[in-house]
Amino acid sequence: MSHEIAVIEGDGVGQEVVPAALEVVEAFDIGFEFVSADAGDATKEATGEALPAETYDLAAAADATLFGAAGETAADVILPLRDAVDSFVNVRPATAYPGVDALRPETDVVFLRENTEGVYAGHEDRLSEDLSTLTRVVTSSASRELAEYACDFVEDGRGPAGGPEDGFTVAHKANVMRETDGRFREEVLAVADERGVDADEELMDAFATKLPLDPGQYGVVVCPNLAGDVLSDLAAGLVGGLGLLPSANVGHDNALFEPVHGTAPDIAGEGIANPTAAILSAAMLLEYLGYVEEGQRVRDAVEGVLSDGPRTGDLGGDATTEEVTAAIVERL
Ligand code: NAI
Ligand code: MG
Repeated sequence: MSHEIAVIEGDGVGQEVVPAALEVVEAFDIGFEFVSADAGDATKEATGEALPAETYDLAAAADATLFGAAGETAADVILPLRDAVDSFVNVRPATAYPGVDALRPETDVVFLRENTEGVYAGHEDRLSEDLSTLTRVVTSSASRELAEYACDFVEDGRGPAGGPEDGFTVAHKANVMRETDGRFREEVLAVADERGVDADEELMDAFATKLPLDPGQYGVVVCPNLAGDVLSDLAAGLVGGLGLLPSANVGHDNALFEPVHGTAPDIAGEGIANPTAAILSAAMLLEYLGYVEEGQRVRDAVEGVLSDGPRTGDLGGDATTEEVTAAIVERL
């Protein structure tokens, strides 16, 4: 049975890099059924809603979604879309590729970020002129679910080398947030122990120093929501640019794939956006749907082009999005 893929380009360079990613996927002739839907700033202007109900429903019903980026309405689009696919983990690889001028060429880490709770659970209040509060939510169930995913991930050999052998590092701040991060730490380490997976731990502030100093010591990193957001962006800075970083929001029986970057308004419409992040997001989508060999072939083709060119302007070249995409398809 053919898989239905929701395609949401969104705004800005989303409209350039998502078609590039589709061109790469279509090179395989798998017979996916692509269904496009609107979201973002332009959609809000036209319809009054950044994320129309049809788009939410389409993402919820599809087998997977490929999303580009939304502009000012990003939070109104991506947070509900993560909910539409029931995503409990945000997978964010940061890999420095040969041929790319990375700050830390030895960086090869994958963040597995809790995607539903922590300080992003939405319980914020303005209680008075002077006082605002935020309630942090941590459940054993979400922590354990993330940890089970992390165990599967390393057992399947999907993690990079580094970190505890065939295991993962959990980053937290349980020495201060004893109840919330304490629970998170305890549950994640308990699941690793039950599953016989190696896990070690780092306090997240110390981790933020050690990662840029010596990224080679880390592989798979499991973290609470906010920590995963910040630390994975830190890692992005080590590997040479936003145009390279894919991500996956994985749910129980659905998932959404998106480049980490936004709409890049400074270059949007010029046809010069780097399609790599979107194409690697599509590789993650292929792997998620069981097309592991195809996903690997996309990765190999992308790595070849990053190494030999052509390259877009953000990587020091002068190629267009279309030229880079064509070079990747050619290698497939
Ligand atoms: P951005 O990621 O759009 O751009 C930051 C810088 O990186 C810019 O100089 C841009 O040209 C460059 N860049 C980004 N993607 C690139 C690509 N594929 N190729 C070459 N260069 C690339 O982040 P910024 O400027 O902070 O945000 C712009 C808009 O995007 C905002 O409206 C923001 O709300 C939205 N945004 C949306 C996200 C989403 O939909 N998930 C994520 C981040 C930002
Ligand atoms: Mg972020």
